[in-house]
Amino acid sequence: MGHAWWQEKIAYQIYPKSFCDSNGDGIGDLPGICSKLDYLKDLGVDLLWVSPVYPSPMVDQGYDIADYRAIAPCFGTMGDLERLIQELKERDMHLIMDLVVNHCSSQHPWFQEAVRNPEGKYGKYFYLKEGKDGQPPNNWRAEFGGSCWERLPGSSLYYFHTFAKEQPDLNWENPEVRQEICDMVNWWLDKGVSGFRLDAIVNIKKDLRFLDGPPDAPGGTCDVSKMLPQDAGIAPFLNQLKQVCFAPRDAFTVGEVCGVRQDRLREFGGPEGYFSTLFDFDHCMTTYAGPFWHQRKPFDFKLWRGTVFQSQKNAGTEVFLSNILENHDQPRCASTYLLETDYSFYSVTALATVSLLLRGIPFLYQGQEIGMRNSRFARIEDFDDLSTRDQYQAAVKAGLTPEQALASCNRTSRDNARTPMPWSGGENAGFTSGTPWLPVNPDYQEINVEADAMRPQSVRGYYKKLLALRKDPAWMDVLIYGALQPAFQEADRLFAYYRTSETGGKRILVLCNFCPEETVISFAQPFGVLLDNYGSFERQNEQIRLKGYQAVVLRCNV
Ligand code: GLC
Ligand code: CA
Repeated sequence: MGHAWWQEKIAYQIYPKSFCDSNGDGIGDLPGICSKLDYLKDLGVDLLWVSPVYPSPMVDQGYDIADYRAIAPCFGTMGDLERLIQELKERDMHLIMDLVVNHCSSQHPWFQEAVRNPEGKYGKYFYLKEGKDGQPPNNWRAEFGGSCWERLPGSSLYYFHTFAKEQPDLNWENPEVRQEICDMVNWWLDKGVSGFRLDAIVNIKKDLRFLDGPPDAPGGTCDVSKMLPQDAGIAPFLNQLKQVCFAPRDAFTVGEVCGVRQDRLREFGGPEGYFSTLFDFDHCMTTYAGPFWHQRKPFDFKLWRGTVFQSQKNAGTEVFLSNILENHDQPRCASTYLLETDYSFYSVTALATVSLLLRGIPFLYQGQEIGMRNSRFARIEDFDDLSTRDQYQAAVKAGLTPEQALASCNRTSRDNARTPMPWSGGENAGFTSGTPWLPVNPDYQEINVEADAMRPQSVRGYYKKLLALRKDPAWMDVLIYGALQPAFQEADRLFAYYRTSETGGKRILVLCNFCPEETVISFAQPFGVLLDNYGSFERQNEQIRLKGYQAVVLRCNV
């Protein structure tokens, strides 16, 4: 596989509302992002994925877009965005926009026109259907609760929505819709955007029979995601985007794809695939025990490790995955993968080590680099996220007490990742001079960028070293392009793997003791140390003694 321009890059996701507020209105904005580019460059970041900044009623925090070619005033102006692109270029960095085209906002003029005249041109931009016996056309349950079908105001027709009712799905079967989207994508690329993260992209193809699905919840509804067709029907849509937009401009694309079957991975993310790379979410699902948040299992280390390795194996050296520990839809990784009693510099850097040296592109999420943890929400009203409120109701309906339902939301809510970035221990964590739109994490005096930098053991400092190692020209053929082989899988609490260069001439062992107790392992090969979160470890004859959550990166002689 030839090397693409983006393969050696490190990506970082910004949730713009919560990153940095420049004007005191409590909402992060584009000038705020511009003011932190040196911070990001210094960390080692190259690609900046910014979650949606388009005009939106913010029902789903910008993932409900009312105008694809403008900037929401709360984030700034188009001039600010152009300045961001320019300032990134000056630093040899790139802007990756969020492309949300499975659906738009019900405030988008296309939908407004469809409501005004369902029989006209814009009625065909959406899925409009008659109901069945006064009920919605089928039993599909939307991602954020309720039926996937909502009455079109003033009509007997229903329109389809995968997510909230304020997010009507666009009808990709309609060539005019596809043309509009391609024109818009090229318009952004011509502006200097380097690529896109493609939101909910497998949802764009529906099974047009719209048959009832097998009920999986009280009330006889069926999770809409189970009804996605798995056939080749999506191919023409994605090929059009690729051929008309991405390929001619050599854009970087990363698909938000859940549940793509292994036999289709290459089709989506291989050298000739629709996208440059695909997020690997499989390991994020290992705590799920059903379609609802209250149906969660405790974190199971071996299952998690095995799932990461399985994804790596499925991807092989053909598909270049995008590896995450966090994003704006997940709780904080420290809280998910570590016991509260185990939180420390060592444990969060151990997590970082095993994830960032996997094969693929690391995507960091804002605040991950200082080891942020979940927030605390005392009442259900304190959450902003619509899906959290829906999951709370689902939990109460299933018989949980309000306290249990609240605890489940605290553990799982997307708002855990959406609290403002804590830049300092000062007022509002240095995020804003006004009132933050979502309260800052109550632990911000302990966990913030300034405090982290003052510590002899800075989490961000370790991330910097890790990213620098990944980019070290001496090790790129191993850490970027090399294959991955699991190691020490028989050990209960070791997360270990080899990376080997394409020629087989260089080998690295990533070795992490993922528990608070000491572990001794037998390792006879000669090696040198490239990175170590403790700074030293004991090595006797053919044994290595690792302390609790010690992570080391070893250069092996081959
Ligand atoms: C994606 C986004 C999520 C959003 C949903 C609907 O999953 O990551 O935040 O709510 O799509 O657009
Ligand atoms: Ca602002």
